[in-house]
Amino acid sequence: MENKILKKKGEIMIDRAESQFWAYDTGIEDVKKNLVLLDNVQFIYELSLAKLELKALGIDFEVTNGLREFKVLNQSKELKELIKKKTSYFKTIDREHTDYFHIIQKNQTRSVNQYLTHWIYPYKGKFHPQMIRALLNIIGLKEGDTVFEPFSGSGTTAVEAQLLGITFIGIDVSPLCVIQGKVKTESIYVLDGILKIRNEIVFKLEPNLFSTEANYYRMIENLTSDERVRSFYKMARLLAVSDSSRRNRDFRTSFIKNLNLMIESIKDHVEIKEKLNLKLGNVKIEVGDSRNIKLLDNSVDGIITSPPYSIALDYVQNDIHSLKDLGYDVLKMRNDFIGVRGNGRSRVELYNEDMKKSYFEMHRILKSNRYAVIVIGNATYQGKEVKTVQFTIEYMERLGFKLVKNINKIIFGLYNVMKKENILIFKKEK
Ligand SMILES: C[S@@+](CC[C@H](N)C(=O)[O-])C[C@H]1O[C@@H](n2cnc3c(N)ncnc32)[C@H](O)[C@@H]1O
Repeated sequence: MENKILKKKGEIMIDRAESQFWAYDTGIEDVKKNLVLLDNVQFIYELSLAKLELKALGIDFEVTNGLREFKVLNQSKELKELIKKKTSYFKTIDREHTDYFHIIQKNQTRSVNQYLTHWIYPYKGKFHPQMIRALLNIIGLKEGDTVFEPFSGSGTTAVEAQLLGITFIGIDVSPLCVIQGKVKTESIYVLDGILKIRNEIVFKLEPNLFSTEANYYRMIENLTSDERVRSFYKMARLLAVSDSSRRNRDFRTSFIKNLNLMIESIKDHVEIKEKLNLKLGNVKIEVGDSRNIKLLDNSVDGIITSPPYSIALDYVQNDIHSLKDLGYDVLKMRNDFIGVRGNGRSRVELYNEDMKKSYFEMHRILKSNRYAVIVIGNATYQGKEVKTVQFTIEYMERLGFKLVKNINKIIFGLYNVMKKENILIFKKEK
């Protein structure tokens, strides 16, 4: 009884999943289902990615029983290990859980894909992390290779690349995004430093300290010289800023609740690294402009990104409270954000012009015969559909990329509204 109470949500789920085998086990070794999909795989595009991922890892397979189970045809000890360590859509191989299954149990939220540090900050337009893990495998990236993200956003690719031991380099024009990516990937190295000043910060949460952001940020700077610890506590404050401005939550309550959850997530990160013996990839995230990337020609092994959503989402307006809290001049900053410059027709034209520059840069820095993945959808602007997908394919092909896969990603979003995006996989041929 006592044991049960002490178990964490994730551990209980593992127990349950393991015991479930017995529920439908016939007692006869069923060789047809040695590779079983995770329960959360529900869309056709996910099945396509699961298959592509196996192919990329050199695995021959056939799909058995109702599309949920696979049989590996060229099984060996090495391939089994590869499936266990790397895949993204599978729960078990020969009844042994994959690493990814264990990773997603480390979740402090109720949302299946917001495991580990992914949930930190309610950023709009986040990638689905499971898809990113699959894409990293599909484009053949291995431990030590480098993936580049020109619009790194909330840092989804950063976290997933790090877990697979892939070096990550990312830029985003928004300093708020840069902090998100850093906190999600760097805090694991400074957990002690974070814990050391926690009580003092909570103790000093007097109303007057919180009334001005300058006081808070000054206090953090006085308490630690480690930039990573400072970023962690900046983020904790920004979560409360966002909660109180968007959802009218009490600042102090929200701060303490989020801070504690963030700490638990960092502990999860540390634990999973140790449990699975992961060799984490290096991560470098900076403020930068995708139209002018500070990297050498032919220097990265892969690119995975989703550019600003045409002109549909105003990233500046979305995060205005946090950007202002950090002391940024939001009006000035707007000029560098792709997709929000100009009005009416000129907004679409400026968007296209900016994206052309970014695509040119992606082509320049990617090594030959390597892949760039762009996840993008058509936007609606002033009641009209803007054909961003077609524009992207045509322009990328003019640059010397070849479109090798175009996967329709149809999902049901908020209020069950259908949302369509495309996963475009390009190979740099020329
Ligand atoms: C669709 S979001 C990326 C979301 C990301 N894939 C994720 O999972 O969070 C697009 C991002 O592009 C950034 N952005 C806009 N203009 C930019 C520019 N000129 N250079 C670099 N990043 C830019 C925005 O700040 C935004 O974070």
